[in-house]
Amino acid sequence: MTQHDRLLIIDFGSQVTQLIARRLRELNVYCEIHPYQNVTDAFLEDFAPKAVIFSGGPASVIDENSPRPPRSVYDLGVPILGICYGQQVMMQDLGGKVERGHGTAEFGRAYVAPKGSQIELLFGWFLDGREQVWMSHGDHVSAIAPGFEVFATSPGAPFAITADLDRRFFAVQFHPEVHHTPNGKTFYENFVRLAGFTGDWTMGAYKEEAIRAIREQVGDAHVICGLSGGVDSSVTAVLLHEAIGDQLTCVFVDHGLLRQNEAEDVVRMFRDHYNMKLIHADEAELFLGELDGVSDPETKRKTIGRLFIDVFQKYASEIEGAAFLAQGTLYPDVIESVSFAGGPSVTIKSHHNVGGLPEKMGLKLVEPLRELFKDEVRALGHELGLPASFIGRHPFPGPGLAIRCPGEITRQKLEILRKADAVYIDQIRKHGLYDEIWQAFVAILPVRTVGVMGDGRTYDFACALRAVTSVDGMTADYYPFSHEFLGETATRIINEVPGINRVTYDITSKPPGTIEWE
Ligand code: XMP
Repeated sequence: MTQHDRLLIIDFGSQVTQLIARRLRELNVYCEIHPYQNVTDAFLEDFAPKAVIFSGGPASVIDENSPRPPRSVYDLGVPILGICYGQQVMMQDLGGKVERGHGTAEFGRAYVAPKGSQIELLFGWFLDGREQVWMSHGDHVSAIAPGFEVFATSPGAPFAITADLDRRFFAVQFHPEVHHTPNGKTFYENFVRLAGFTGDWTMGAYKEEAIRAIREQVGDAHVICGLSGGVDSSVTAVLLHEAIGDQLTCVFVDHGLLRQNEAEDVVRMFRDHYNMKLIHADEAELFLGELDGVSDPETKRKTIGRLFIDVFQKYASEIEGAAFLAQGTLYPDVIESVSFAGGPSVTIKSHHNVGGLPEKMGLKLVEPLRELFKDEVRALGHELGLPASFIGRHPFPGPGLAIRCPGEITRQKLEILRKADAVYIDQIRKHGLYDEIWQAFVAILPVRTVGVMGDGRTYDFACALRAVTSVDGMTADYYPFSHEFLGETATRIINEVPGINRVTYDITSKPPGTIEWE
């Protein structure tokens, strides 16, 4: 458990609760999101927050049994910030009034103007006389609770910002965490400063703490780590290696569906550079053998998934004294949040990269990245000295090139695909575009086309270039390369990669497409 000052976010089901956590982490404040159902008196005592935030949510406080925090939260003596639904909860709990929003609902951009005296929460606000904020509410506060005063209003929200300065309770009608409240960062900065946070959540400090925690958890037992060469597993492996050295063995499963030089790069880096115990499980024959003649995408994925677990288990069971399995599970995978429907059910996303294996093999889990967001994992990787080329890598799917080779997979197609992909990525790097793109790759298409090269006719494969921008891979847009870039890349691929005589660019967004071709 972390030793830092802690801020508790009580989640009432807003779609943007995670953004509150992101804003706070950016300010080096450690915070956790917990669904309101789990926040009991005992929980609060144990968590000992230095400040609390009530999130927004889709419910109405006027309804019976609407979500509430425990009463004891108001007696902790720490600052509380209520946002939107959280504002209404606070008002009603403390003696104010909330009414249904007939005719007063406000959605989208609004402008708030200051009222009364300047307060610390609003330092740096209203420099131009007003502040743009993002509203999204149906109900509204019609009478503020005793002890509160109004410090800003908007045309639709006479109680846009209210506060009880003695108790340091703040209640706002809008969402300061979203992008459309441009000065939201200053707002949160003010809140955490007045709550006494010192910004002690830094990656340097976290690294030391995580290493101590791993040593304590593992003792003198042995740990196995599945290493794919992706950011999460690489950072997990290097962190564990710093903590327990030779008590760690990594298993790198090479299924023959990796990109050009990928296996060599990963093995060289971890075995030679970091001096880690690393098993390079070269199982290309097994995977490609079983995939022979398979063209259905789901069968491909299932076959690869099944073999992956078998192979991993085979190698892992040969490691003597192994008691733990390390996984690169991230915070977004473990946040329990109130379901969007606002009901009492809790959605728990659990992540098992090597599905079911820990139970099957009687291994306990070590998950040192459980408290981190993706960009924090990158910062930790940086802190651990991982080269930037590893930290900034585009995601690469577990089934690898299999899902970039629609239809039947053959060694010949894989070879062509690897070469074309290497040229394409080289082009993207040379033009300085790699970091602007979420993911870029080539797919080899199951069609042959006629072409002419020199004086001869060709009859070769067509390929598709894919490049997308995205924040989380859930939605994506195609990257708007210039025509010059596309032309130059197509020429290079056709000249440098025997077997391809036609290049297309995939301009499908997600949805309706997916990022991968299968
Ligand atoms: P799609 O194709 O579903 O992909 O739009 C979204 C993101 O997930 C990656 N992806 C996978 N990653 N195992 C993985 O580890 C998989 O089976 C898998 N399928 C897709 C994909 O590369 C993209 O980043």
